[in-house]
Amino acid sequence: MSIAIVAALQEELSAVLTLASLQQRGRAVVGGREHFLGLWAGQPVVTVLSRIGKVAAASTATALVTHFQARAIVFTGVAGGLRQGVQVGDVVVAREFLQHDMDASPLFPQHEVPLTGKSRFQTDPALSDALCAAVRQGLPQARLHEGLVISGDRFVSSSAHARTLRDHTPDALAVEMEGAAIAQVCHDFGIPFAAVRTISDRADEAASVDFQRFINTVASPYSAAILGAFMARWPAQR
Ligand code: ADE
Repeated sequence: MSIAIVAALQEELSAVLTLASLQQRGRAVVGGREHFLGLWAGQPVVTVLSRIGKVAAASTATALVTHFQARAIVFTGVAGGLRQGVQVGDVVVAREFLQHDMDASPLFPQHEVPLTGKSRFQTDPALSDALCAAVRQGLPQARLHEGLVISGDRFVSSSAHARTLRDHTPDALAVEMEGAAIAQVCHDFGIPFAAVRTISDRADEAASVDFQRFINTVASPYSAAILGAFMARWPAQR
């Protein structure tokens, strides 16, 4: 059974995707996405780009679990920094996820996923601990944060919107567009999930420019450094 490695965009994973060993066992198109099957540090891996947004991420995760029998999913990519002190270039390992645009009130409390009784979905503690250790080893100069990451189908690019998100979820470290969806799918299927996000922007008026510059230059080498250290540490038999 493989470990699945997922990013939304090619730019976030290009350095990883060029590793020859990642394609040595072939490719498979499922759900309209190309999956690369191979070995990394002697372990079977399946690598795929989810594309952007919660539905794309949920569909990708479901295929990884049901078609590829992934034994764990690790997501890597970028996010907008929300909490004070979470700056461009910092790294966030998610300990829990929430959908900031989920609101079925007054039927259910804001942010609660209807009929689950849950608004927050935890990541796997051991997998997340291993990602933190990999960040410290692979990117020793980067500042590391751990905690809540929020997801929604909006690219947040105004200070007013970022402030609203901070007001609603003061402990949110960062915002992105996929993690909470994968966390929910993995919760449904009982599959361990962890996610690491490098901060590309501060979710303000400069976000789209900062985001583009960051994913073109920094995102991919950061992902490769973190995942390289992670794969070297994560035990094969788990
Ligand atoms: N991913 C990276 N930056 C983001 C932002 N500002 N909003 C949503 N997703 C992001």
